[in-house]
Amino acid sequence: MGTYLILVGLLSICSLSFSQECSRELVKNVDFPGAEVSTPYSPDAEHCQQLCTQHSSCQFFTFVQGDWTRNNRTFRCCLRSSASGQPNARTALQNVTSGFSLKPCNPDPQPCLSQVYQNVEFPGADYRSFFTADYKECQRACTQDPACRFFTFANGLFTPEKYRFKCQLKYSWAIPRTPDVETKAGVTSGFSHKTKFTQHFDTACEGRLFVNTAIPEHHLQKLSAASPQQCQTLCSAHPLCTYFTYVSTNLTCLLKNNRNEMVIKNKEGVTSGMPARFCQPDNNWIKVAHKDVDFPGSNIRFEPKDNADACQKACTNDKYCQFYSYVNDNFSDPALRRRCYLKRVITMPAPPKVAKLANVVSGFTKKNCHGQKQ
Ligand SMILES: *[C@@H]1O[C@H](CO)[C@@H](O)[C@H](O)[C@H]1NC(C)=O
Ligand SMILES: *[C@@H]1O[C@H](CO)[C@@H](O)[C@H](O)[C@H]1NC(C)=O
Ligand SMILES: *[C@@H]1O[C@H](CO)[C@@H](O)[C@H](O)[C@H]1NC(C)=O
Repeated sequence: MGTYLILVGLLSICSLSFSQECSRELVKNVDFPGAEVSTPYSPDAEHCQQLCTQHSSCQFFTFVQGDWTRNNRTFRCCLRSSASGQPNARTALQNVTSGFSLKPCNPDPQPCLSQVYQNVEFPGADYRSFFTADYKECQRACTQDPACRFFTFANGLFTPEKYRFKCQLKYSWAIPRTPDVETKAGVTSGFSHKTKFTQHFDTACEGRLFVNTAIPEHHLQKLSAASPQQCQTLCSAHPLCTYFTYVSTNLTCLLKNNRNEMVIKNKEGVTSGMPARFCQPDNNWIKVAHKDVDFPGSNIRFEPKDNADACQKACTNDKYCQFYSYVNDNFSDPALRRRCYLKRVITMPAPPKVAKLANVVSGFTKKNCHGQKQ
């Protein structure tokens, strides 16, 4: 009898943690407490739910709505997890909306975000601006510009007056980035062979890299990358990147911006180059396994595997995995050996900040809204 009860107990614990059912419900005025894994900004609960779905470990979320007044957490999308996969409780809380990750629902990897937001600004991340008659024209411009992911438009009542009808196109990373790349003895890291890093072009091209060359000035952004080719791919994806410099000693990718001049200098161990935006670059770099390199964080889960190649295959065969790190037999901590960590990051449009602002309209590209009126 005692054994039976323990068994039933164990089974119910297991079913809690493994049978994650597809639940699309959004629960208003209820908080889902849990361990906070990340708190990005979001304009509404639906967008926040998609962020949770694309985050490596988010299981449920609480979105702090625009009418929240208690503190400065307005428009925060609180991505959470727990051991059971369920919220620890359901607590009444005004002006928040909670729900679950859509990971078990076979989600669209590029969701259509057709909603627009009145009196809401997406500050920062600008790369191009001009003037349009209304927000709909600004949204069309965003949909047709290859790099645009979201926009903010100032309407005819906006102050200061000189910014009225201004349409700001904005960018967030559309390709998987490795947030960190570190040298670590006994760890091998690489990418899913299925990850799309560029849009498809019929014309092939070879990326041009200048070895032992630095371009010191005009800093735009500093990122981590495992190779000059990965750095070049990041430069090609960023609308403001005009050239880049990759420093192999610290695995750093420096994106640069200057449309007028490019001053190069000889420098040992440094590689520079230009983006490839209008042709199909040789993407063989994604097949390279980087020895003694770790991509820390961003874990979906880990599985035991015999070697780095088996880990790469597990990542390639997993719908959500973008990159992996494998802990080899010679790693210092025996407890972690043979672990294959599957990893991913958010690639949907994600504004760096969301704030209230009178007389502006913000929204997203409708590139992914196939068959819907644009
Ligand atoms: C919730 O929103 C209402 C307006 O919709 C506001 O009056 C109230 O103060 C807000 N409460 C909290 C806790 O944010
Ligand atoms: C939000 O408020 C907290 C204290 O409640 C403060 O520490 C933090 O700096 C504030 N953040 C911003 C962005 O204002
Ligand atoms: C660990 O083993 C891998 C091959 O399995 C090898 O490439 C790597 O250099 C080794 N690292 C150390 C620190 O011995």
